[in-house]
Amino acid sequence: MKTAYQCAIFDLDGVIVDTAKFHFFAWKKIAATLGYILTDKNNDQLKGVSRVDSLKRILQWSNTQLDTAKFESLLVQKNKDYLELIQGIQPQDILPGIPKTLTFLKQNKIKIGLGSASKNAIPILEKLKILDIFDVVIDGNQVMRSKPDPEVFIKGSTAMQVNPKLCIVFEDASSGIEAANAAGMKAVGIGSKEDLIGASICFPSFDAISVNQLSDLFNLS
Ligand code: BG6
Ligand code: MG
Repeated sequence: MKTAYQCAIFDLDGVIVDTAKFHFFAWKKIAATLGYILTDKNNDQLKGVSRVDSLKRILQWSNTQLDTAKFESLLVQKNKDYLELIQGIQPQDILPGIPKTLTFLKQNKIKIGLGSASKNAIPILEKLKILDIFDVVIDGNQVMRSKPDPEVFIKGSTAMQVNPKLCIVFEDASSGIEAANAAGMKAVGIGSKEDLIGASICFPSFDAISVNQLSDLFNLS
């Protein structure tokens, strides 16, 4: 029998809750002030990327140079807009299939971690009332390097004292899949296989993963 995986590390935005659309909305507004229309394709390249690096990319695409003060003020504005958009988030917004998956992991004594680039991760988990389910939360306040750098996931496995080879990462962003692979973890894509190249397997959503498939994924069966 194969060795069972010992920990699951979840991305937050677009995996546990559909906040990815709010990041997009807020960045679109900032880009518009620079005379740039942010496309869906641009947005795919911002998923999983930190706030600072996202703005740097937008400035590159829009061929804009800003002084430090203006750069900082756009970061503040983006987060202000984003926080307004997520203000009303509540437990019912947890994406389908996530509660069942968390229950499965607890029942099987598999550790649960969060690996997110977001500096807003803890308040979001609190609003969703699932913060205490996580053994470890690594967020944008604790990492120096954005995904695709593996730092966020390595910090998670180290904190949980689990070998990276025995961790499964759930991700909706190609930068996150790359980061999980670079960490030596198994990368499970939530989204389409075409977008998430490098994922060991993809599911359209957690709702589409049966308990039997979870058992197979974690080598429990
Ligand atoms: C990631 C999102 O989870 O967090 C990105 O996919 C976002 O879109 C990044 O830019 C940083 O989030 P925040 O909340 O710190 O601005
Ligand atoms: Mg994500």
